[in-house]
Amino acid sequence: MTPEGGGMSAPELVTVTIDDRRIRVPKGTGMIEAALWAGVEIPVFCYEPRLGPPIGACRMCLCEVEGMPKLQAACTMTAQDGLVLRTAQTSAQAAEGQDAVLEFILLNHPLDCPDCDKGGECPLQDLTFRYGPGNTRMRFHKRTFDKPIPVSPLIALDRERCILCYRCTRFSESVSEDAQLVAVARGAQSVIATFEDDPYRAHFSGNVIELCPVGALTSTTYRFRARPWEIQNVPTVCGLCPVGCNTWATTREGKVARILSRNHPEVDDGWLCDKGRFAYDHLRADDRIRQPLRRVRRRGFERASWEETLDEAERGLGDAVGSVAVAFSGSETVEQASALARIVRLGLGSDLVLLPDDVHPGLEAYRAPLSAIRDADLCLVFGDEPVVERAPVVDLWLRTARRQGAAVVTLNPAGTVAVAPGSAAALCGTLREGSPPAELRDTARKLRKAQRIALVWSEDDPSGGAHVAALAESLGSRASVYFLPRTPNGRGVAAAWRSAGEGPGDAPRAGRELGALIVSGDEAAQDPLVQQLAGEAGFVLTTAMFQSEVTGWSHLVLPGTSYLEREGTFVNLEGRA
Ligand code: SF4
Ligand code: FES
Repeated sequence: MTPEGGGMSAPELVTVTIDDRRIRVPKGTGMIEAALWAGVEIPVFCYEPRLGPPIGACRMCLCEVEGMPKLQAACTMTAQDGLVLRTAQTSAQAAEGQDAVLEFILLNHPLDCPDCDKGGECPLQDLTFRYGPGNTRMRFHKRTFDKPIPVSPLIALDRERCILCYRCTRFSESVSEDAQLVAVARGAQSVIATFEDDPYRAHFSGNVIELCPVGALTSTTYRFRARPWEIQNVPTVCGLCPVGCNTWATTREGKVARILSRNHPEVDDGWLCDKGRFAYDHLRADDRIRQPLRRVRRRGFERASWEETLDEAERGLGDAVGSVAVAFSGSETVEQASALARIVRLGLGSDLVLLPDDVHPGLEAYRAPLSAIRDADLCLVFGDEPVVERAPVVDLWLRTARRQGAAVVTLNPAGTVAVAPGSAAALCGTLREGSPPAELRDTARKLRKAQRIALVWSEDDPSGGAHVAALAESLGSRASVYFLPRTPNGRGVAAAWRSAGEGPGDAPRAGRELGALIVSGDEAAQDPLVQQLAGEAGFVLTTAMFQSEVTGWSHLVLPGTSYLEREGTFVNLEGRA
């Protein structure tokens, strides 16, 4: 055993007894977790360790504690040596208390479970069935409110269902730090609202839907669309940014109806940004390309069968052997990219490629899980693009690091250290050389002292990787690097291309003769260089979900898929498959 707070040494273990089961746990372990280790469930509503310290608001976790005259909220207690706790399973007093709490919570709860979207996957419903009193003594009318209240275009609030656990407001205040959801008025009049009744506009607002343990906060995009017995929850990862948050895609009748988080503690800690949560409507868009299209006249198309299209694709590409370029989107799976790379490099004998942003090989040595940002004592964020736009959940990790005491220094024109736009690469060099100008002296001092440094790069600069790698090298084992590519699977696509042939390949140039161009996906079709090449190439084969300038130049257009419709591997910004 070691004394408490013994630095890197093993934590002090203490003995606690829960429902007659003696276990040894590290001193200070929360009693909800200690009970779980003992195989005992203590029901909770407000308790959610990711939201910060427990607040003891709902009293669902009432337990009897030896030596204490009244029932205690177990979620607010930590393991101390000799602590003896009894849950409702073994204590009549705790069972009575828990019954009373549920009866009280249900006083004004409408019990509209058959109508409520949370019905069937609702902690209040489940815990009432498992622990509740079974009936009520109340005979008066319940409180009602106007409903649903639009918290935002994406979130509806049915106020009468709220049990005032404050999970939503704590998320808004302490995790996303947008401070837009608040509890107004006091006591029995207290209700959840947005600050000054403005719409809840934030990057992570949808998380409160999942946090709410009742059906008070629901998604307007899912409301009344499905019941839990009609759906399948498919485990997947988000393909809209390079973080790769783990998700469940809820499908109904084979169509995506909802995206939920699927906690990966090292990647996302169970949070999702609103883009990842709500951006799936394009799957159902009326203007999606659903069948192969063949150009019959300049900028005119007719529908074609797959067989005809594939034959024509083979002819068009075969006529251009040795002069075929491929433009990747960075959202292909590794398997798709690898197949396409083999067709071009091995089958068509060409090495012309437009690749999405890859990660500099020098950064491999500084790889670390995203969760390690939380434990840094200094986070340096380079680049002009806000991290929250490029890789939203990384922004939450940076906020967590700052709450835990890290210095988070953002170096951009609007950052904590204001610097000239586009100067990130030069700043890396300046900080590495150690003779910084006045505005960087404080940052350089922090860099010298810090023991765990997270370098975050958020900019489109092809030379950025090399600069940040050089800075990391000068810091040695103190540094970890998080290079935020623009595309969700740029790393995986680039690696697939490299492994299909010799060398990195060459970029096609506008104005030079090009036999054929393969445009892989809608993102590639947005690239101005690709648009120019499409206008010049002898034959253009495009895979896309939607029409664009590039499809207009194409000879053949194949219907593309969304990341939610592809099976395969993504490699996220950490290099994690
Ligand atoms: Fe809790 Fe839901 Fe009410 Fe917010 S709206 S306080 S999460 S019950
Ligand atoms: Fe303990 Fe709410 S879970 S008081």
